[in-house]
Amino acid sequence: MIHSKISGTGRYLPERVLTNFDLEKMVETTDEWIRTRTGVERRHVCADDETTSDMCVEAAKHAMEAAGKTPADVDMVIIGTTTPDLIFPNIATLVQHRLGIPACPAIGLEAACTGFIYALTTADKYIQTGDAKCVLVIGAECITKLLDWSDRNTCVLFGDGAGAVILEASEEPGIIGCHIGADGQYLDLLYYPVGASKELQKAGTDEAAIMMAGKEVFKVAVSTLGDVASRALEAAGIEQSELDWLIPHQANVRIIQATAKRLGLPMEKVILTVQDHGNTSAASVPLALDVAVRDGRVKPGQLVLMEAFGGGFTWGSVLMRF
Ligand code: ACO
Repeated sequence: MIHSKISGTGRYLPERVLTNFDLEKMVETTDEWIRTRTGVERRHVCADDETTSDMCVEAAKHAMEAAGKTPADVDMVIIGTTTPDLIFPNIATLVQHRLGIPACPAIGLEAACTGFIYALTTADKYIQTGDAKCVLVIGAECITKLLDWSDRNTCVLFGDGAGAVILEASEEPGIIGCHIGADGQYLDLLYYPVGASKELQKAGTDEAAIMMAGKEVFKVAVSTLGDVASRALEAAGIEQSELDWLIPHQANVRIIQATAKRLGLPMEKVILTVQDHGNTSAASVPLALDVAVRDGRVKPGQLVLMEAFGGGFTWGSVLMRF
């Protein structure tokens, strides 16, 4: 059987950093409120002329370098994002071309904050069938461009960034199990009201802003993330205590703490970047992975569970030996 394994990681964060103290000057909020309710202290924000594909290209270069790959080695590109540069062509084609990757399947995929987990799951399947050998997988988001900077309920939560991995065919896992899911009945709890075929005329107006029922999202996120993690471990016949690291979606430190508690995992085994990045949607898990790989916490051979939850709702997990 062909397995898949991550052989390199990379990240890019925009230069501009917006702290909670900066936000105090923009809306009626305090550093203390934001830190205690969400765990966020600062976030990176794209420049006006910076796009999601710009960030993808930089993150991908670092991942390819870490994996010792050139653009010619890559035979598929999959990018999870809710904020592509254009409606078409899809973002993966832009990134494939800009990196000088020879013509290959290029898939842009939208699953809100679960985008990277969906992309990695898709890449794993292509590698398992033998249809791809070396896939560039990215989670990226320029979500601050969707924000209403006068809405304190949402503008304090989010940040921009991109995280990338190279996923290669391998004789040994690598990826042990992927579980993704979705239930569209929760549309009203979290959505952005403008699309290509609906309400496009609202783009750029006050009516275009993230709609979120924070408390309800919080509750479903905690129970779903707990279930998704338990299911991944159960399917693999692995005990919680065997896990070296949990890398959860970085939406809110309280959601992460509640999930870890349900799993019986101490917070020392959880990678946390929400304080520095905010909620970067599809980018949050690969950003956290790269941070922990590069600072030496996540080591080759360790057992890692990544999981995410986002608008839709969508959810998913990937259990792997790094
Ligand atoms: N500063 C100060 N006060 C604020 C702010 C702010 N930035 N934002 C809201 N408030 C006020 C509210 O208006 C409310 O005031 P009121 O009682 O007078 O009406 C008060 O603070 C309390 O608001 P709550 O909604 O009770 O605050 P809560 O403890 O639920 O925290 C939060 C809100 C942080 C949004 C939380 O519900 C949450 O994180 N939910 C999960 C949603 C999420 O993570 N969404 C991100 C996208 S989805 C995803 O990635 C999973």
